[in-house]
Amino acid sequence: MERSRELLRRHQEHPIRAPHTFTALGTEWDVHPGVFSPEFTPVTAMFTTWLPYPPGGSFLEVGSGTGVTAVWAALHGCRSVVALDINPAAVENTRANAHRHGVSDRLTVLHSDLFTALPPDAAFDVVFWNSNYVEPPADYPLDTMLHHAFFDPGYAAHERFLAEAPARLTPGGRLLLGFSDVGNQERLRRLCDTYGLGLSTLRSEVRELHMTVEFQLLELTPARRRP
Ligand SMILES: C[S@@+](CC[C@H](N)C(=O)[O-])C[C@H]1O[C@@H](n2cnc3c(N)ncnc32)[C@H](O)[C@@H]1O
Repeated sequence: MERSRELLRRHQEHPIRAPHTFTALGTEWDVHPGVFSPEFTPVTAMFTTWLPYPPGGSFLEVGSGTGVTAVWAALHGCRSVVALDINPAAVENTRANAHRHGVSDRLTVLHSDLFTALPPDAAFDVVFWNSNYVEPPADYPLDTMLHHAFFDPGYAAHERFLAEAPARLTPGGRLLLGFSDVGNQERLRRLCDTYGLGLSTLRSEVRELHMTVEFQLLELTPARRRP
């Protein structure tokens, strides 16, 4: 909680209240007020460079924030990218970065609580969420939209994600979750068991921030695909 509260505080300070640009992955991006900003954390760049981008395939990013990962997918071979976020400011921010990087023709951005805004039959070769993996108690108040970027009270959103995401995969599609050892790994493991998902770590890296954090790119494999 402490690391996340600190990150939240930095987001709320001046000059983050005004739109501005930052550099990540060697290029410029817009960040709007009230949106999770990759300028304060290595996690966005890390997952963005670790992810597989299916050449000519489709990619769904849940919780796109500023849109760095979704835009990167569109710039790195994906034919069709959809980005979703529950935070309307993040939706606008992702659209701005799609425009800035000239990928608006193949990146659709929707305001959505997880998968709710998708057509019922929409399925993707890769589904990814860099999640709000800090788990406060179920009654913890999400006072601003920005709180959704960090906190998932009672892991309600994680549970829905694990229950609903497998249906959003094409045959052979891959389900990936950006997580860390700050998250409740035991709870995640139990939820994976409940929903018949295998859990493996594709890649991880330890970083010294205000505290030591191990960032983890996890793959969730639906039971029907496992031997
Ligand atoms: C840790 S931030 C990651 C943002 C961005 N992908 C990045 O890496 O910079 C998590 C994102 O998930 C979004 N989010 C949280 N709950 C959500 C939900 N139920 N549906 C859609 N997006 C959600 C947040 O608004 C936030 O943008």
